[in-house]
Amino acid sequence: GSVPKPLVAGNWKMNGLRDSLAQIEKVAASEVLAACNVDALICVPATLLHSAAVMTAGTPLRIGAQDCHHQEGGAYTGDISASMIADSLGSHVIVGHSERRMGYREDDASIRSKTVAAHKSGLTAIVCIGETEEERLGDQTLDVLRRQLAGSLPDDVTAENTVIAYEPVWAIGTGRTASIADIAEAHAFIRSELSHRYDDECSLMRLLYGGSVKPSNAAEILRVENVNGALVGGASLVASDFLAICSVY
Ligand code: G3P
Repeated sequence: GSVPKPLVAGNWKMNGLRDSLAQIEKVAASEVLAACNVDALICVPATLLHSAAVMTAGTPLRIGAQDCHHQEGGAYTGDISASMIADSLGSHVIVGHSERRMGYREDDASIRSKTVAAHKSGLTAIVCIGETEEERLGDQTLDVLRRQLAGSLPDDVTAENTVIAYEPVWAIGTGRTASIADIAEAHAFIRSELSHRYDDECSLMRLLYGGSVKPSNAAEILRVENVNGALVGGASLVASDFLAICSVY
């Protein structure tokens, strides 16, 4: 069967002032990136979204956001809508990152509405799922993934408008990565869950691994079956590290 084109996505989280746009410029202009067979994306803070998108227009680097509200607009102080992201020339939005599931008590139903909003504005949604350490130790990993997939994904999902990111919560920002066997098991499970719900459509959907991916471990992780790229936090902040991960492809 065919294999999806890989995607390496950076997530800057709450990092980056305007001078960090120099890193974006370096990645976008890099010959390393031009030579890789990969789609590359960096999800920047909302404050940098439009500048980064304008700076990278016509380059292989896409720019995205890290969250959106499920409504188009209205009395939601501090939030940004999917249409604002699209209007700022962002192409993707991360939804349901564990830092938002935990820090803002976002549940699967709200993540599903955000995914619908993203699709309505023509954005690709990167829907994050993943178990906590407690859930893994309690042997609940696959149940958690099944529940999050069933609850967070709307019916309109296609291989173009949605990317799944598997991020074990205990591997995020900790320097600990899941074992290769655990990653393979989780990704095979996600693929099979998707195939039950979406038939053939899902075979080209990209499944990213996230959690302490860096240049030194990227090759081993990205070669696992059903791993179609990475969602990279810390290592995406420095152009050379992000490019080293892209260059696995
Ligand atoms: O969304 C990416 C992320 O949560 C992983 O962060 O710093 O462990 O690569 P990091």
